[in-house]
Amino acid sequence: MCGIIGYIGYDNATPLLIEGLKKLEYRGYDSAGVAVHTEHSLEVVKAKGKLCALSEKLQQMPQLVGNLGIAHTRWATHGEPSEQNSHPILSASGKFAVVHNGIIENYIAIKDELLKKGVKFSSDTDTEVVAQLLDIYYDGDVLSTVIKVISKIEGSYALGIICAQRPDELIAVKKASPLIVGVGKGENFIASDATAIVSRTKDIIRLEDEEIAIIRAGSVKIYDKAKNEISKEIVHIDWDVAAAEKAGYEHFMLKEIMEQPTAIMNTIKPRIKDGKIDFEQDGVSFSMADLKNINKICILACGSAYHVGCVAKYIFEKILRKPVEVAVASEFRYMNPIVDGNTLVVAISQSGETADTLAAMKEAKALGARVLSIVNVVGSSIATCSDNVLYTWAGPEIAVATTKAYSTQLCVVYMLAIYMAKKLSRINSAQHAAFVEDLLNLPSKVEKVLTAQELIKSLAKNFYDCKNVFFIGRNTDYSVSLEGSLKLKEISYIHSEAYPAGELKHGTISLIEEGTLVVALATNDALFEKMISNIKEVKARGATVLTLTTEMHRAEAESVSDYCICIPKTSDMMMPSLAVLPLQLFAYYIAYLKGCDIDKPRNLAKSVTVE
Ligand code: BG6
Repeated sequence: MCGIIGYIGYDNATPLLIEGLKKLEYRGYDSAGVAVHTEHSLEVVKAKGKLCALSEKLQQMPQLVGNLGIAHTRWATHGEPSEQNSHPILSASGKFAVVHNGIIENYIAIKDELLKKGVKFSSDTDTEVVAQLLDIYYDGDVLSTVIKVISKIEGSYALGIICAQRPDELIAVKKASPLIVGVGKGENFIASDATAIVSRTKDIIRLEDEEIAIIRAGSVKIYDKAKNEISKEIVHIDWDVAAAEKAGYEHFMLKEIMEQPTAIMNTIKPRIKDGKIDFEQDGVSFSMADLKNINKICILACGSAYHVGCVAKYIFEKILRKPVEVAVASEFRYMNPIVDGNTLVVAISQSGETADTLAAMKEAKALGARVLSIVNVVGSSIATCSDNVLYTWAGPEIAVATTKAYSTQLCVVYMLAIYMAKKLSRINSAQHAAFVEDLLNLPSKVEKVLTAQELIKSLAKNFYDCKNVFFIGRNTDYSVSLEGSLKLKEISYIHSEAYPAGELKHGTISLIEEGTLVVALATNDALFEKMISNIKEVKARGATVLTLTTEMHRAEAESVSDYCICIPKTSDMMMPSLAVLPLQLFAYYIAYLKGCDIDKPRNLAKSVTVE
């Protein structure tokens, strides 16, 4: 999604803005631009394509010097990717420059109104109506002007604004789209997320919806729509630049795959006290009455987070004996959902900014549900909008294809299930203790599976020119197959499908032919023999089978498969955390061998903040 950075301070803005955009590239974009307040006016330089095109343009012109500026990487929503449609967008008078992330849903009506007033538009974007409205409303009082504009527009926005007549002020406001203020020494910033500014400051202020920030080099003032100044907490983030860099790995994705043992430990440890799951520090608690009142759990998510929800359904229904629905968030709103005060909604999101998930959970809240979210970004929109939030302490996840966030989301699901089951006396103390022990042993077992890196890299050499790959599994192995298939598609662009192993024979098996690769997940002991039958079915039709199972089933799996990867055993509930790892590495090495842009796959964005 779009990336925003703004600067005001003692230093020259231009190089800082470009550096900041580089840190935001992972969000996915198709054009970029900067606007700097030079001596007398706002100078805007924009370029379609990657950031290097903008940098080249800047190098070929007189240096852009100024202490105030905004910059943007655009992921096109309204208006095709082009220089004309890239941000910053200038108002007709040249007085205002604006960068925007989100969608102004009523921009057409506003644009028609302004065109009738003779306003000249220069782009096809929704954003431009903001720039033109600023022009029209500006009366010297910038706070009132911004309040009028945000009262007029509808939809989602994170806005960075500079004004030719106000060389000492950087203005920012947001609604349902991420934007933070970075507080430095003699300089201040705005950014879509902290990775863009962490090299200059680790002190940030998270803007809430419709709070207006008037930022100077030495001060940050924040107002509400009634022009009351608001005092805001300055949060010190504990990332360092290294955490947001590659730490020697060739790709962020491999770094983040290898960080999973630590990420899992960081997520689990703070929540286990005296052998019990404890969400006290999260401010999350469910009384026995709360749990008894829950007659349905509804999980809302997108992409890989949705696949965590699919695992969660099996786990919650098995251990809590409560019905669980897992909905693709973008479908949920339009299915007239059956949700009420007895529904517990669990929203799962790495970024905490996915518009589909945010919109779905707001719908569920409006229907009376209690919303608990599982999120990786502190203070993100989904977290802020929830009744409770359980953070996954995975640290910044930069690669578009999620790995450590997925794994830590699984761990929060396990802990929530164990916590609730104990409260409901669905499990006894011995079972509870066994689950907690498996949780604490998970990081080392994950570490052990990741040592199979070289084996998986050599397997990838056999398959990186495949055209189609099938992933099959049963129960939670099917849910993990969904994730393995998505990983492969996302980063290697190889077509792939995940299928319930027992369902393949009802149609899709017709696609299996000589040499078709089938990845069979067989980590569930109770269903292992069923999986052997399914493997034989596809083998009989010429498939090449790569089976993923546990050590105890190695001999039988190898007797029917072409290739076999064996992983350690843990409780069935937590097997997804181990089974997913070889699939992450498999996708990574296939994409690597194909020379794909692994961290920034084509067409994808790390967080889609538009519906
Ligand atoms: C997609 C990402 O855009 O959004 C996926 O490419 C991700 O990796 C999905 O799983 C949901 O994002 P989030 O931030 O809500 O987990």
